[in-house]
Amino acid sequence: MARSVILGTGSAAPGRVVTNLDLEARLDTSDEWITQRTGIRERRMVEDGGKWSDFMVPACRAALEMAAVAPEELDLIIAGTLTPDMFMPSGGCTLQALLGAKKATGFDVAAACSGFVYGLTIADRFLRADPGMKILVAGGEVISQRLDWEDRTTAVLFGDGGGAAVLTGGEDGERGILSSRIYSDGSLWDLLYLPGGGSQTPYGEGFAKKDNTIQMRGNELFKVAVKSMARACRDALEEAGCGAEDVDLVIPHQANLRIIQTLAGLMKVPMEKVYVNIHKYGNTSAGTIPLALDEAVREGRVQRGSLVLLPVFGGGLTWGAVLLRW
Ligand code: UT7
Repeated sequence: MARSVILGTGSAAPGRVVTNLDLEARLDTSDEWITQRTGIRERRMVEDGGKWSDFMVPACRAALEMAAVAPEELDLIIAGTLTPDMFMPSGGCTLQALLGAKKATGFDVAAACSGFVYGLTIADRFLRADPGMKILVAGGEVISQRLDWEDRTTAVLFGDGGGAAVLTGGEDGERGILSSRIYSDGSLWDLLYLPGGGSQTPYGEGFAKKDNTIQMRGNELFKVAVKSMARACRDALEEAGCGAEDVDLVIPHQANLRIIQTLAGLMKVPMEKVYVNIHKYGNTSAGTIPLALDEAVREGRVQRGSLVLLPVFGGGLTWGAVLLRW
């Protein structure tokens, strides 16, 4: 059966490293609390004036280079992000212009942390209909500008960064995306949200800091996240006729090491088969999976024939999983 294949991956993050000790100095928190409760040791953040495309363009270029695909060959650019350079144009259009992807159509997927997995799923559907297409799927955020630096319950969790993958279709055989599942439950929106800037609370007079920063009910979100990702993994595996024991590497959304460990426990997958880089980047929202996938590929943890599972969850709520044979 013809499948959608990832030809190349790339990732990038801003150069400024912010450690837990740096956060201790500005918040009522500690390195010990952050490390024990989340697994995060440091994260990257843009400098003042830094923007999304500063690191997303290099991430996309690296993916194109690995794929040996020129920007002019791209037909479609799908960007999973809630923090593009501007509210309009979309991040997809910004990437199209900056990469020189002249014939590509660009758009964004608003699925918060699930943006990259949603993007892969959309790309897969396009490629099933038109296997000759070349598609760039990107995911990443500048989330540091959307944090309330007086709220220790969110400020310590996130970081900036992202990655990308170049896909095409039509390869016969085992290789490629075997199954992909995406889900939403909008009734759970208030577990994680960013209230301002939409039509309900437009920018302008009376716009409060709370409106421009991430609001979260972390404890409840933790439980929903684990259950929903486990369900999505089960569905994706079932659709492909695979079992959890067949998976060579799980590359999950990096929101909290304890969430990842609990998910692995539920799936009965040993942690040796789970890729973790949250200690270096924190939660980069739609950036976590493409960043981790690219690192895993470049480190040789993902090799030709590896069965790789990508589970995610995020604001919306949104969640899903992609299963692919590398
Ligand atoms: O991409 C999706 C984005 N979000 C998530 O995935 C978040 C999911 N949730 C989580 O990761 C966890 O719920 C958190 C890491 C956010 C919190 O961990 P927790 O183990 O659920 O802690 P908690 O909220 O139950 O808080 C425990 C204590 C509280 O103090 P008291 O009430 O026990 O005195 C908090 O006030 O820890 C306190 N606390 C902190 N202490 C030091 C909360 N944040 C901090 C902090 N430093 N940064």
